[in-house]
This record gives sequence, C-alpha cells and structure tokens, in this order.
Amino acid sequence: MSTNLDAARAKVAEQVKVDIFTLTQEEDNKRGIQEVSRSFISDTITVPTPEMYLYASKASVGDDVYHEPCMIALEAHMAKITGKEAALFVPSGTMSNQIALRTHLKQPPYAVLCDHRSHIVRYEAGGLAFHSGAHAQMIIPSNGHHITLEDVEENIVLGQEIHSCPTEVISLENTLNGTIFPQDEIIRISDYAHSKGVKMHLDGARIWHVAAETGKPLDELLAPFDSVSLCFSKGLGAPIGSCLVGPKEYIQKARWFRKLFGGGMRQTGFMAAAAAYALTYNFPRLPAVHELTRKLEVGLIEIGADITSAAETCMVFFDPSPVGVTYAEIIERATQLPDPLKLGGSRLVVHIQTSPQAVEDFLTIVRTLAEEKKAAGFVPPEKKAYPNGRPYSSIYVRGVKREAH
Ligand SMILES: Cc1ncc(COP(=O)(O)O)c(C=O)c1O
Repeated sequence: MSTNLDAARAKVAEQVKVDIFTLTQEEDNKRGIQEVSRSFISDTITVPTPEMYLYASKASVGDDVYHEPCMIALEAHMAKITGKEAALFVPSGTMSNQIALRTHLKQPPYAVLCDHRSHIVRYEAGGLAFHSGAHAQMIIPSNGHHITLEDVEENIVLGQEIHSCPTEVISLENTLNGTIFPQDEIIRISDYAHSKGVKMHLDGARIWHVAAETGKPLDELLAPFDSVSLCFSKGLGAPIGSCLVGPKEYIQKARWFRKLFGGGMRQTGFMAAAAAYALTYNFPRLPAVHELTRKLEVGLIEIGADITSAAETCMVFFDPSPVGVTYAEIIERATQLPDPLKLGGSRLVVHIQTSPQAVEDFLTIVRTLAEEKKAAGFVPPEKKAYPNGRPYSSIYVRGVKREAH
C-alpha cells in the first residue's frame, strides 16, 4: 500500500518538477545584460547586478503581511526622507498610484484633475474608473510643458452644482516625460488646492531625477503633496517595487487597500534590500545619466533633428524629419548593427546601465542617414515655429533657452 502511495507521489513529483533555465542560461543572461546597455526603450529594463543580489540575499525573512524587519526599516526610511509620517511598499507604480487615489476618494461623485499625458490616465488600464469610479479631468498644459495654476483654475470643478463632478484630487507627475515640474508652480497649485479642500497627489515614479538634477531634498520637493508614489524599479535600477508615502492614518487605510488589491506580499525582505541598495549606490549615479541624455540631445541638434521634449533628466524626444530621416530608417540601421540598438521611436530613455558607446552608435546612425539624404538632394524645409513664435528646434529647459554646446 505504502509502496503504491510512494510510487504515486513520485509520479506526481515528476510531473510537478521543472527546470526553467535554458541550457545556455548564463550566456543568455550575458547577452540580455548587453542588450539592456544598448536599449533606449525604458529605464524599467535595468537589471539587478551581482552586488545588488548579494546584498538582497542577506535580507531578513519575515512575512510582510505580519512583520518583515527589513521592509519595516525601508518604509521608516522612506517616510523620513520624504518628510511624511508613514510609507507603504507596493509591487508596482501602477498599484501605488491607484491605491493612493482610491484611499483619497471616499464619497462619489468625484473627479481627479491631471495633465492629459499623466501615467494615471494614459497607462494604468483605466484603473481610475475601475478601482475608484472616478471621472478624470484632463488638462492640456497651455505652455506645452507643465500645467499651471491658471490651467487648474480654468478646469477645476468646485461647489455644489448637482450637474457637475467635483474635483477631489489634483494629481501631478514629476518628472513627466523626463521633464521637471517647476517647484514654485507646484506650490502655487498646492496652496490653491488646499485652500479649496482639494487633495494633492504626486506620481513621483521618477522624482529621484528631480532631486538629483536640482539638488533639492525630497522632503522639500514633496512638501506640497498629501500623498506621493515613488518607484524603485525605474531609474534607480531595483527589480521590483514602489512606495506610497503620506499621513499615518492615510497609509494605514492604504495598507488595507493593498490587501484588498491583492498586493499584500510575504517574504519581501530581499525586495526591501534591493531597493535599499538602489537608494544607496544607484541614486548617486543619476547625474551621469542626465549628462549622457544631454549628450544625445546636443548630438541630435548638431545633426539638425528637432528636439520635441528637452533632455531635462533621463529622456529626450526627437523628430528626425527636418534632415529627411524617418524613425523606421533609424530603427532598421540600429537593428542591422553587429551589436544592435533597441529603439522605440521619438522617445529615447537613458539609464544607469546605458553604455556611452550606444549613445555614440545611435548618433552615428542618424548622422550617416542625414548625410546620405543630403547627398541624395534632400533640402531641409523651412524651420517650423510653435504658435507662440518659439523656433521649433530651440531647447527650452524650464522656460530658459539652452544653446547646443
Ligand atoms: C510616471 C510613471 N508612473 C507610474 C508608472 C507605473 O509603474 P509600474 O510599471 O511599476 O506599474 C510608470 C511606469 O513606467 C511611470 O512611468
């Protein structure tokens, strides 16, 4: 009988077991890491290094739904550096934003006012409607860069008129497409919002870049907000995780929603440790990332391409049509290189694992294509201008013109 049971169990164990590695896993990983260093798709593709893994492997082993010491330490640190009472680790930036808004929004009807390009309304699968049943009031910034108090005043819905959907939260994003939201404008919007009883949330997935670029401490940058979501898994290079920060009572409620959303995780010590490693060793590398992004921008200007969104931090958006080149042509050449480059289109993202050689190779492709087009008789069109007369290819950083250098 027991022999039969043993045999049956052995059979089940045979069915269950698996080796998910390929025969050439180590080589594949090396190639994967090389590909990351030559990809301009996103900063979410950064991979943990052996040093990060080593640090993470020493983490505590508690269950985070009950008590995980390393996670508690990380959350306490995050609350301290952001100047908020409490913090909550969550698996993703999307969950962090959605829980943040759900926790603010209590009694419909209500709306969230934000920039029309915001991640919360563009790239979170309609979560605002699904999780919170909220209406989105999306604003096109009148200055083309960031929304202003005047934009907010024009679009906010206040008062008791029963046909309207009142604004309950203003949600800003910093950085947005890699651009920095001027702090004085944030303060103006926040002062106004709070005077009307409206809450302020920040999608600060890449707020690290603002702190690194401006030298302003996080608690100062985040003081105008009631809640902030910050990501470890983008520019900072950790594999998993985001953090929601805010008042103690608010975070307690958010912790409840995290459970409801299915985001209560168990042995998360190693995730906390990877995030701590990223804060300690990767945050100081961001200025070099921004420098490399500016190199891309300057190279593109010299070639004659348009810059459609300036390299204020780790992203630059460009348009190669003024030199007769298309995105498809650039991507084709990039794919044909012995060590291919990975490109999306107009958006170039630089990260801590981007190789400077990849930047050189990218510029060489665009330069060569532009020269070929010129040799074939392409005549650049008259320079376009923005409706306000600003020349199309000028680089404006926070309203100040920057010359190619
Ligand atoms: C600005 C911003 N917010 C939130 C998110 C969502 O983060 P996640 O992909 O971890 O859900 C992203 C993702 O790239 C993002 O760019």
